[in-house]
Amino acid sequence: LILDGKSITLPVIEGTEHEKAFDIGKLRDQTGYVTLDSGYKNTGATKSAITFLDGEEGILRYRGYPIEQLAEKSSFLEVAYLLIYGALPTEAELSHFSGQITKHTLVHEDMRKIFDGFPSATHPMAILSSLICALTGFYPQSVSPDLSPEEMELNIIRLLAKMPTIAAWTYKNNMGHPLNYPRNDMDYCANFLYMMFSFPTEKYDINPVVVSALNKLLILHADHEQNCSTSTVRLVGSANASLYGSVSAGINALWGPLHGGANQEVIEMLEAIAADGGDTSKFIAKAKDKNDSFRLMGFGHRVYKNFDPRAKIIKKAADEVLQALGMQDSPLLKIAQELEQAALTDQYFIERKLYPNVDFYSGIIYKALGIPTEMFTVMFALGRLPGWIAQWKEMRENKEPIGRPRQIYTGELERDYVEM
Ligand code: MLT
Repeated sequence: LILDGKSITLPVIEGTEHEKAFDIGKLRDQTGYVTLDSGYKNTGATKSAITFLDGEEGILRYRGYPIEQLAEKSSFLEVAYLLIYGALPTEAELSHFSGQITKHTLVHEDMRKIFDGFPSATHPMAILSSLICALTGFYPQSVSPDLSPEEMELNIIRLLAKMPTIAAWTYKNNMGHPLNYPRNDMDYCANFLYMMFSFPTEKYDINPVVVSALNKLLILHADHEQNCSTSTVRLVGSANASLYGSVSAGINALWGPLHGGANQEVIEMLEAIAADGGDTSKFIAKAKDKNDSFRLMGFGHRVYKNFDPRAKIIKKAADEVLQALGMQDSPLLKIAQELEQAALTDQYFIERKLYPNVDFYSGIIYKALGIPTEMFTVMFALGRLPGWIAQWKEMRENKEPIGRPRQIYTGELERDYVEM
């Protein structure tokens, strides 16, 4: 325990009354002392039964299920159900859940008026967060602090259903293309791809490999315990703000390049290496040179100290997508493979545990699908949505108090006001 900057060792004998008496958390609460760790910003105070993450061992589990099994065997909607309601759905539950979502995919036509006001240069995340917040105007009961379980359920369904429609609009706005209405005969991922890439004048063929890769990508991003956007959703929601308002805040947090921008940085790095002539050995040497500011993007991870469990799954999906789209020989992919090879075989990278992470591969898939880099965070938001909803719901159902991170004051203690 740190008290007044001094480390104190408390004698605690396990499993006795003694242990209870010296419960460190209790002692800290009782004495009112707090220690400052600005990296955590007090989010360690959150209890949650949703996602388990062990950064040392490279373990990620949703509600106890390993991410590897979920990505392999489940659909994104099954995982969304699991995160939000705590158990994998039965066949009947899943059919009801996806049926309800399909029923609500259309967005109110008056939302188009708000949407049409955005200049085409608007960043897709600005449109996404604005329109998600604007849903409160169309569903006023959603702002009530006393939602019945049925009302909460309907708000959740509406958000899951309308998010892909609005996300596809943001892309169409950037491109200046006509909007597509949702196709309710398609599943969640296929419908999203249809709304993104089809034109009224052309037949749209769904590629099952691409749909499967998108399904995996969304599952892998569905929750990641208390990251910046998720704790934002919980904190905003703890003031009894609506689900739509809280998720809108989370979207803005995710838009911050330090949180959601990693895969965009990977693609920009690969493009810069390609523009320079594609000599990866030159950039690997730069990465090793501590006097050079160049950094390899998409290697290592702040949370995972040994490997990112999501990376292996997504690497396989990336290989399958590139194969299915006949893009195995793309110059960007060649550069990515050479960097990946270096990271996995070169002692410098092995010793520093700089393995390729999930962002390294997700950007490659999105790029192959023709999704512009500005849309990468929108794709992340689409995946993270069930996690945000589950965390908001858990926080509300547990009747958690309003969040108020403590601060350590570092300014002047008291100053005399001198009139000018
Ligand atoms: C995430 O998936 O949210 C990112 O890896 C960031 C994080 O967990 O802090």
